[in-house]
Amino acid sequence: MKDIKKIKEDFIKESSQVETIQGLNELRVRYLGKKGIVTDGLRRLSELPREERPKFGKVLNELKRFIESEIKSLQQQLESEEAKKRVLSESIDITLPGRYIPPGKRHPVTQVLDEIVNTFVSMGFEVEEGPEVELDYYNFEALNIPKDHPAREMQDTFYVKPSSVDNDSTTESDIVLRTHTSPVQIRGMKKRTPPFRFIAPGKVYRCDADVSHTPMFHQVEGLMVGENITFSHLKGVLELFIHCLFGPETPVKFRPSYFPFTEPSTEVDIGCILCSGEGCRVCKGTGWLEVLGAGMVHPKVFEAVGYDTEKYQGFAFGMGVERLTMLKYKIDDIRLFFENDVRFLRQF
Ligand code: PHE
Repeated sequence: MKDIKKIKEDFIKESSQVETIQGLNELRVRYLGKKGIVTDGLRRLSELPREERPKFGKVLNELKRFIESEIKSLQQQLESEEAKKRVLSESIDITLPGRYIPPGKRHPVTQVLDEIVNTFVSMGFEVEEGPEVELDYYNFEALNIPKDHPAREMQDTFYVKPSSVDNDSTTESDIVLRTHTSPVQIRGMKKRTPPFRFIAPGKVYRCDADVSHTPMFHQVEGLMVGENITFSHLKGVLELFIHCLFGPETPVKFRPSYFPFTEPSTEVDIGCILCSGEGCRVCKGTGWLEVLGAGMVHPKVFEAVGYDTEKYQGFAFGMGVERLTMLKYKIDDIRLFFENDVRFLRQF
């Protein structure tokens, strides 16, 4: 019993002298380790007569628990002291310049797209959206482009395999990636009753790739329907739009054209931005650049959405955003938009 008491006294003395975590670990090993003083004492219980063992075992175990809890609280104390010391020794230099984070900016195509949208919104147009994965019906049929129509040739597209969960009657050629934003005309009209005007910006897809074509590009569609809407409204709105985007001096020309879903149809040209109308490589010597397709909504299209063709008229237009961006910033290769080279993108 005296020995045990001595062990406890020694421990208390030694533990009061410990100053570091490392010193504490050494203390723990000396008392509680495999060959430690307390561990050794417990082992030697077996050398005592049987009836003495419980008494000594109890005292030794109490000592063991005492040492364990002392070590634990010492450990916490030392750790918090060391943390304090660390914080005090680390001072912060507030004069050090921060790390430069280069500001990001919007892609040139997005910038021009936003400018187009804002121009039409300021003229009272709503903004409509439609799906990029579209039914053949909306992309072609309802726009007066039946299955064997030659206009389909101009817009060869990507077909989408219907998944097995789809309706059995949907076949491989019924779902396409939309080739233009015109299907949103149909979707938008089904939701509304005239008068209304909306635009529909978004991505479109065609099997095409060269200096002026990419398989994906952006269009903005426009549609205005009401009573007594005439070709004059079409001209007024589009002329104003072009003057907003390219400047009020830009010459605008309406040239007869053909689209199955408009009648009459027109293509809109602007005076060549690069040569100011004198004739160059970009305008192929004509002095003019085509920027838009447009026309008065075909009665067949109104019939597809159940509108009274005697009562309502409307005009529609569609434009390619990459093309307008190329003209506005005099860019000669459409693929630059999608290479994500910062040296190119930084310029806008
Ligand atoms: N959808 C036509 C195209 O992609 C453009 C257009 C839209 C023409 C609306 C007339 C009216 O070529």
